[in-house]
This record gives sequence, structure tokens and C-alpha cells, in this order.
Amino acid sequence: MAKKIELTPEQKRFEDIISHAKAYGFVFQSSELYDGLQAVYDYGQNGAQLKNNLKQVWWRAMTQMNEDIVGIDSAIFMHPEIWKASGHVDNFNDPMIDNKDSKKRYRVDHLIEKKIDALKTENKLEEAEKLNATMDAFLAKEDFEGLYNLIVTEKIACEVSNTCNWTEVRQFNLMFSTEMGAVAGEDNKIYLRPETAQGIFVNFLNVQKTSGRKIPFGIAQIGKAFRNEIVARQFIFRMREFEQMEMQYFVRPSTEMDAYNSWKTKRMNFLKALGINPDKLRFHDHTKLAHYANAAVDIEYEFPFGFKELEGIHSRTDFDLSQHQKHSRNKIQYFDEQVEDKDKQRYIPYVVETSIGADRLFLAILCESYTEAKGIDAKGEEKTRIFLKLHPAIAPIKVAVFPLLNKDGLPEKAREVFEMLRYDYETLYENRGAIGKNYTRMDMIGTPYCVTIDHQTLEDNTVTLRERDTTDQIRVLISDLPKIVEERVSLKNILLMVNGKW
Ligand code: GAP
Repeated sequence: MAKKIELTPEQKRFEDIISHAKAYGFVFQSSELYDGLQAVYDYGQNGAQLKNNLKQVWWRAMTQMNEDIVGIDSAIFMHPEIWKASGHVDNFNDPMIDNKDSKKRYRVDHLIEKKIDALKTENKLEEAEKLNATMDAFLAKEDFEGLYNLIVTEKIACEVSNTCNWTEVRQFNLMFSTEMGAVAGEDNKIYLRPETAQGIFVNFLNVQKTSGRKIPFGIAQIGKAFRNEIVARQFIFRMREFEQMEMQYFVRPSTEMDAYNSWKTKRMNFLKALGINPDKLRFHDHTKLAHYANAAVDIEYEFPFGFKELEGIHSRTDFDLSQHQKHSRNKIQYFDEQVEDKDKQRYIPYVVETSIGADRLFLAILCESYTEAKGIDAKGEEKTRIFLKLHPAIAPIKVAVFPLLNKDGLPEKAREVFEMLRYDYETLYENRGAIGKNYTRMDMIGTPYCVTIDHQTLEDNTVTLRERDTTDQIRVLISDLPKIVEERVSLKNILLMVNGKW
């Protein structure tokens, strides 16, 4: 009989969150009807709304709250030369290894990291550290033979076949390609963008000239990116089709570190303003910098599977713009009249980038808000109440309106209240089911307010307002509802916090 694997409390929590996401219309496996497509996901009715709210708050925090940032929306398909210029054709590779028995392919660093984690669990910390350092050294030198030998000498086995029958280590490019136009072949090969950033770089001059912006200024964009991730794990953490929210901030050379430090603070504030517990966020400096970067840091969030990258902040020097200047044979230079030294007035700007995955932020928010509260019910029995403690401003539904009974004019009155609120807030009207069950359903999707219309409402125009986190119910006038709701669900609350004005 197969041995039942015991889950750690964190693993169990993560499984519960994944089940919750599906059961309440947040995230579905793509093509589930056809047994699914690995590492590709669809957002359901509540997920799409929550994700839109996250994108909107990011967009507004960037473009509306920073006078020196504008937003664009560039195409997914771009000239293939762009990916040569950016280095993605030659360098966007992961070293991979295949197990000959199971035919399963692994990212070499992930395979070795698993062994390192196992050593740590067995408290063999010195051994773990040594293995980590050796792996890092081989990765840095792109020494594939060294990595292969390490896997063999460490007796790292495939989790499926349990054998160490490995192929050699090979590079695997992560870009998806297709053909543009009717004729197939290398000449028509085109890539699905693996990051949105390049759409910003190649539009730098267009935006600078048409907006009249002076350096420093930034360009933001939200859009789909595609990576043929080999080891796609942890639900929507690593996907093959995902969305990025990126901002490139163009600065005068030698001022980039000020911008870098300032963006580090601003981005951390943003995540805290969304309601993420500061203890679950940390900076992680990159020790191995890409050859073109002079500083790079990740903001990590403590997911149930450990601290992992949520956002990257990178000082990319003038690498990207210089590469595009070289490959396009078009000058990409900025004339800075503020610079006194005439020889230094014309330059290629330096860039500080902030880059966060919309899906990864969604996952962090889901993990953060999934709450199991123990309490005693009306019968005196212990009960667990599950709810999503979402910041009210990003909740998919802000207010739900219910008539207590589906008769006596209560539905009509409830619809009046619904009509009053729906123009300003995502509002839901429901006239079926018991009130208790309706409250529970709203808790599960994180609705901050429920409004119930009863017979008393017909007499004095008051309703019961139930608050999600406390479950407190108070009686309020219908005419006071918009003000009460607005106070908590306004996106302005988040924007003020991002700007340190709360
Ligand atoms: N332009 C820089 C850039 O793309 P990156 O570290 O490769 O940098 C930035 O990606 C962010 O995009 C990550 O911090 C993560 O939030 C998100 N991301 C990257 N790959 C992803 C994937 N396969 N699935 C989901 N999100 C991903």
C-alpha cells in the first residue's frame, strides 16, 4: 500500500488555499476539461476582479501618484532582433537535466537546492552550505560538467523513477517562439515576449519626445509575458503565461543609486499598504549580479513554502538602451540641458527597474488574507470560520445586499439599495438562501460589507450592516451607507499609505 505523505502545517495551509481558490471562483487550472495545461491558469469570476483591482492600484500608485511616471501598453509581438539585443536569445537559458528512466526534466539548480533543503532539515548545516557554495560556483562559471558531476556524486535521484540515470546538463531557452505571417521558417520566427520591459525600452524616445518629459522620469506598463518554465511549481507562483507590472525609471548616469534606494522604499511601502504583514516581507540583495547591473534586490514574501521573490528592483545601467542603439542603428540619446559640462550633456540614460508579477502578487495576497478564525458558535460548539481578510479596497465585491425574506416587498427595497450603491462599488444582490449562508459565502471571497434589508427597513429606512472581520452587525440608515462604505473601500486609502500620508 502506498505510504501516505504527512504534510507540514504550512503545506496543509497551502493546499487549503489552492482548494479555496478553486472552490470560490478565484483560480482554475487552464483547460481543466481536457485534463489541464501545466503551469497555465485561468482566473474565475472573483479572481479576475481581485487581479484587476491589484493591477489598478499598482497602475494608479505608479502613474497617478508620481507626476514623473507615465503608462504605456506595448505589443506582445516585437521585432525578433530586440531579443538578440536584450540578450534573451543567447542568455535566457536554464541549465536542465533529464532523467533517462522517468523522462522527467529538471532545472539543475532546483534539483540541487532540494538536496540542500533536505540536508538542512537533517541539521547538516555545514554540508548544506558547502553544497550551496559549490553549486553557485559552477553556475557562475556555467560549468555544466561540474554540475553534472555534483548531481552524481551527491547521489541526487529523480523523484519519479528514484534513479540517478541522468543525461548530461544542457541549456534550455525559456522563450516561446512562433511564426509571423503565412510562411513558416527561421526568417519568420517571432517570440512571445518573456518580459514587458523591452517594450518600454524601445519606446523610450517615442514617450520622451511626445510627453516632453525631462529626466528623471519613468514609464510603466502592465502586460502578459511568457516563459517556457521547465519546472513549474507552487500553483500560480511560477507560470508559463503570466502578467508583469514593470516600471523603468530613466535617470542621469551616476544618480542611479539614489533612484534605486528610493524605489526600494517606495515598493516596500506599496506592499505594506496592500495589507501585507511587514514581518513577512524582506529585502534580499543579489550577490551574483548580471554583468550589466550594478545593484539588484528582491523583495521576498514569506509564502507557505518559504521566503521567495515577489518583486525585483534592478539598477540596469545603460545596458538595454545601449544594446538597442547598437542593434537598431538608431541613436537613443537624451539631451540634458541641466548638465553644465557640455561634453556630458548628451547621454544614454541609466535605468532603475521595478518588476512585479501580477499573479505572484495575487498569490501573496491570497496567502496573506486566508484566515481561519476559531470561535464558539451559538450552540456553544467550537467552530472555525474561514474568511479572506482582504484590504477592503481590493476585495472583488465591496458590498453584498440581501433581503431577509424573498417576499413582503423586501426584495424590491433591497434592489433600491443595490441600485444606490452599484454605480460606485462592485455590489452584489442576492435574494436566495439563508442569510447565515450568504454571509459565509461573502466571507469566503472577502466581501467587507453585507447589508440586510428586513421588515424594520420598510418602517424606518435602516438596515443591518455586517462587517466581515469582526462579524459585528450594526443598524444604520440607508442614507449613511455610501459614506460608511466609502471610508473603508476607497483605493485612496492605499494610495495615501503608499505616499506615507496615512
Ligand atoms: N524585467 C525584469 C524581469 O523580468 P524577473 O525577475 O525575471 O525580472 C520579475 O521577473 C517578476 O516577474 C518576478 O519578481 C515575479 O514576480 C514575476 N515572474 C517572473 N517569472 C514568473 C513566472 N514564471 N510566473 C509568474 N511570475 C513570474
